[in-house]
Amino acid sequence: MKENIKEILYTSQQLTDKAAALGAAITRDCGDDIVVVGVLKGSFMFLSDLVKNIDKDCVIDFVRVSSYGDSMTSGELVLKTDISVDIENKDVIIVEDILDTGKTLEFLKRHFEEKNPRSVKICTLLDKKVKKECYVKADYVGFEIEDLFVVGYGLDYGEKYRNLPYIAVI
Ligand code: IMP
Ligand code: MG
Repeated sequence: MKENIKEILYTSQQLTDKAAALGAAITRDCGDDIVVVGVLKGSFMFLSDLVKNIDKDCVIDFVRVSSYGDSMTSGELVLKTDISVDIENKDVIIVEDILDTGKTLEFLKRHFEEKNPRSVKICTLLDKKVKKECYVKADYVGFEIEDLFVVGYGLDYGEKYRNLPYIAVI
């Protein structure tokens, strides 16, 4: 597996430090009714480090979105699993691994806004600097990266590499 790794972009320590900083910012900014929604599968590792640093009561749930594209881009989006908790009048934070074209997060933001939450914010670990196809902006960003394909810390290529504790370029 590791023979395809070209370069480590962020070490395990850098990632947990960033999750701690973002969790502290969310603690400062949000009200007392936080619902953290992870986008499966890529956000699972980031979400687990992030929520350890949100010093408020929070409800955690997940969505699964599938896209009819290849594994590197998103095509037509379909919500495969929705949240099962009520978000009316709650501060929702969508947690994503990476914001690329913005299609996935724009789709999810719209979906949640229909459920009458108090607010919907986006927290993404990585934000690609490339021009977005959709108008969606993250409220919390871990790192801005160049237009590279990265894996690890939840992110996959063909379902592999999610378990790496660091983020790397393949
Ligand atoms: P978007 O809808 O184009 O913003 O793409 C978001 C989804 O594409 C992410 O949730 C990832 O699953 C996938 N993706 C985009 N870029 C990468 C990458 O560099 N590595 C792994 N997955 C990626
Ligand atoms: Mg993915």
